Amino acid sequence: MRDAALPDRLLDWYDAHAREMPWRVGPAARAAGARPDPYRVWLSEVMLQQTTVAAVREYFRRFVALWPDVHALAAAEEAQVMGEWAGLGYYARARNLTKCAGVVSRDLDGRFPDTREGLLALPGIGPYTAAAIAAIAFDRAETVVDGNVERVMARLHAVEEPLPGSKKRLGQLAADLTPAARPGDYAQAVMDLGATICTPRRPACGICPWMGDCAARAAGIAADLPRKAPKAAKPVRRGVAYLARRPDGAWLLETRAPEGLLGGMLGWPGSDWAEAVPEHAPPVAAEWRDLGEVRHTFTHFHLILALRGAVTEAAPDRGRFVPAAEIRPSDLPTLMRKAFDMARGAPEDHPGGRVSNRRPRAVPSGKPRQ
Ligand code: ADE
Repeated sequence: MRDAALPDRLLDWYDAHAREMPWRVGPAARAAGARPDPYRVWLSEVMLQQTTVAAVREYFRRFVALWPDVHALAAAEEAQVMGEWAGLGYYARARNLTKCAGVVSRDLDGRFPDTREGLLALPGIGPYTAAAIAAIAFDRAETVVDGNVERVMARLHAVEEPLPGSKKRLGQLAADLTPAARPGDYAQAVMDLGATICTPRRPACGICPWMGDCAARAAGIAADLPRKAPKAAKPVRRGVAYLARRPDGAWLLETRAPEGLLGGMLGWPGSDWAEAVPEHAPPVAAEWRDLGEVRHTFTHFHLILALRGAVTEAAPDRGRFVPAAEIRPSDLPTLMRKAFDMARGAPEDHPGGRVSNRRPRAVPSGKPRQ
């Protein structure tokens, strides 16, 4: 059953409290007729998949400064796009980004489709992103359901069934509330409510525009919802990475295969990752020494990566030596960056050559990074 007063109350709250975001057209500007640029909405929503607003802001600013429209991004070097994406994780998103930009630029004359169905046909755009772009960029009455929205719905309706089993029901409850008027503002308003008031641990129910409507608050269980089914413990995988330098300071790097984890990103050559370190050969002949290990958590496993370092003049079997002055640590995905930082701090890290430290990293969220 639809209660028209609920969306209205939320929209009134949004009019006063909308968060400022570099890709967002706020409610006042929208009311004055401004429309968001679909390119910026698309780029931000792809970045926001699995990643927090705080982490995305700086990346978004850099991307639109480098590539202000979809034609510019379509013409970009893939390696540069991957380098700029480094640290955001889930690198398949970056590979699909350039593919999608190519399709929109070449085949659609630079115009994004303005319906959910049309958007779904593009590379890297799934149901969440299609609904978000259709609602935010084109004011279609689509329902956007992310973790914030699930939490808000679970509380509003006191859904006690745990996630992920309750996903469908929560999605339906969210759809039932989606208004025909201002659906773009409404979609962003529910997400803002979840991010700023209906927060996971200590919801600020006292200032919530839906305070009087919230079944979980009435029952005193708001902070306990949504319930979550226990997750299976993540397995541990192990691997070895080799950080070789030439006497002139160049580092041995490779571009990883396009498929698989960290696909297409720069990295240190090494073994595959498995329960026990798989058999493998070092990428270049050298006298290797232990540099310690780095730990990193991916979506489905924890990784313990043993690091080996050496200085060598031999020709590598894999990868290429990159002069230190050409290396931007910010181009490395977080795992490889951790390894680099560890190798650079090692006592025998002597060969010459300064490495540029061009760009501050995004603030990591609590979410797993790839
Ligand atoms: N999370 C993902 N997209 C968002 C948006 N447009 N506004 C607020 N939070 C978001």
